[in-house]
Parts: sequence; structure tokens; C-alpha cells
Amino acid sequence: MKIISPSILGGNLLNIQAELEKLNSLEKIWLHLDIMDGHFVPNLTFGSEFIKRIAKATYLPLDCHLMVTNPEFYIEDLKTIGVHNFTYHYELPLNHLNILKSARQSFKSVGISIKPNTSIEMVDIAVLKEIDLLLVMSVEPGFAGQSFIDHTLEKLKQITALKEKHKLGFSIQVDGGINSEIAKKLFSLGADNLVVGSYFFKANNYSEVLNSLRS
Ligand code: DX5
Ligand code: ZN
Repeated sequence: MKIISPSILGGNLLNIQAELEKLNSLEKIWLHLDIMDGHFVPNLTFGSEFIKRIAKATYLPLDCHLMVTNPEFYIEDLKTIGVHNFTYHYELPLNHLNILKSARQSFKSVGISIKPNTSIEMVDIAVLKEIDLLLVMSVEPGFAGQSFIDHTLEKLKQITALKEKHKLGFSIQVDGGINSEIAKKLFSLGADNLVVGSYFFKANNYSEVLNSLRS
């Protein structure tokens, strides 16, 4: 079964406890947490104190998507909380192999994310060999509720071809503007894990929307 990662940013932020209670019973989902610092993206969300509270209220694997300029700081900040997956952005001019090495000591799964205008050819193969997850943004990072960018579909074809050519083992996660119709296309093109915010949380029945995203 493919993984769906509901993005809490699209949920009822005034009643997260109730959202978590509804999510806790669902199968094979990750809880996607968008950490934005107001610098890497023009929006500010939450940090480790908030995630610590979330961790106490759920057994779901926590999937942290760092839209921040200083991921090294967050490796330290999040390492004792029980975060499952740590993803940060490849566009940052940093030593990625060093960051991944250090993240791997603290998290079970580590990933990089690429924005819509970052092509897969721009990513160093040595980096692709070190990751568990490649997060392909299908909207400009920063806000929930945007429209899916169609050229993501072409990008997925390139990524799956590259994975095959170099026998790369990372899984592919896609994030932004996803609904059931788009989910079907993404899964058929090799996606393993879909982040869904607005479309998921606007549903009355989370188990039904989950089934429709997987069908
Ligand atoms: C955007 C975030 C997404 C967003 C997804 O920067 O990374 O995770 O919350 O929400 P929707 O599905 O509404 O685009
Ligand atoms: Zn995200």
C-alpha cells in the first residue's frame, strides 16, 4: 500500500488535537509537518516545541519538511523528538553530503526536496545515492491550497528513468495541489508517497478520502 502523508498545514490549526485523533486510526499514513522559517519561503509555521507536543499526541511517523535556510540547526533541534523522516531543500548552497551524513545519525529516513524549477539533472548523483526519499514539489513551497503544476508529471518520468539507470533506491514523494485524480497519475508514474493538505482535510470522512487517493 502506498503512503499518503496528510499535511497538517491544510488541517484545522485551531483544533489539532481533534485532527490527530481522527488521523491516528488510519493505516499507512505519515504526518507531514511543514516547517517554514520566513526566510527560505515567505511564510512562517512552527518549530520543535510544537512538534514535540504533536509527537506526544500521535503514534504516526512524523515527516518533517524543512523549508528553512539552516537545516543543520534543525537536525540538532529535532533529533530527540522522535521524528521519522527529515527532508530539507537541495537548492540551499550547502555541503549536502555532510548534512545527509549528520541527519542519518538522528533520523531513520532522510530526504532532499526539489522545487518546481529544480530539474533532476541539477542534483548530484552522489547525493541521490545517499537519500531515502526525494520530495518533488508540485507547487512553489510556502503555502497550502495552491494548484498542482503539470510539468511535475514529466519530471516524474525523468526521475523514474534515472532511478532505473543508476539503480537508485530512494522513494519518491510528491507535495502540493494533489487530489484523487492527480494521485492516480502520480502513482502510475512511480510515486511512492503523496503529501496531501487541503484536499485531504476538507473531506468529512478521512478514511474515505484516503481510499479515494489510493484507488
Ligand atoms: C507547501 C507544503 C505542502 C502543503 C500541501 O509548501 O510543502 O505540504 O501543505 O498542501 P496542499 O495539498 O493544499 O497543496
Ligand atoms: Zn510539505
